[in-house]
Amino acid sequence: MNKRKVILFLILTVLILMQFVKIDKNNPESKPENDFLVANNAPREVEGIIKKACYDCHSNHTIYPWYTNIAPVSWWIKGHIDEGREHLNFSDWMGYTAKKKAHKLEETMEAVGEAWMPLDSYTWAHAEADLSQEERDILMVWLKNIKIN
Ligand code: HEC
Repeated sequence: MNKRKVILFLILTVLILMQFVKIDKNNPESKPENDFLVANNAPREVEGIIKKACYDCHSNHTIYPWYTNIAPVSWWIKGHIDEGREHLNFSDWMGYTAKKKAHKLEETMEAVGEAWMPLDSYTWAHAEADLSQEERDILMVWLKNIKIN
């Protein structure tokens, strides 16, 4: 084998070996009544927008598409999910203190209003999550009216 073939062979071997390191796709359990949308009586329209644009990373209801079976893409996506949940998990909303809720709500309004969420890398693959100005306005009106308790 010449040098190029050896390198190609090694790269392929590493790529194949990577496939054995699978990500954990189990969604943690959570009580429905602790959910942000349920607890705050979100109207259908709001629920639909937040679920399609935020819930894959900020809830315990992640939908894992086929490419999450392919390493190293899967590892990179899993990193976003773990980090997203750690910062803000809408499924655990009622477990947050009033202070934390107020802070996370403010951050959520910023994220939606200033359009830095969802992540760009997410909307490449999920065009429906690339929210229109109208959808962002609908969310803002609703978010502003949430009473923290
Ligand atoms: C592809 C995964 C992904 C999606 C989808 C996503 N986020 Fe995030 N979000 C993250 C990650 C990762 C972080 C933490 C790192 C950062 O701030 O960029 C984060 C951080 C945040 C924060 C900051 C929380 C804090 O206190 O630090 C808010 C608020 C937020 N996201 C809201 C949203 C909203 C609202 C949506 C839907 C419109 C959304 N995100 C969609 C991955 C995601």
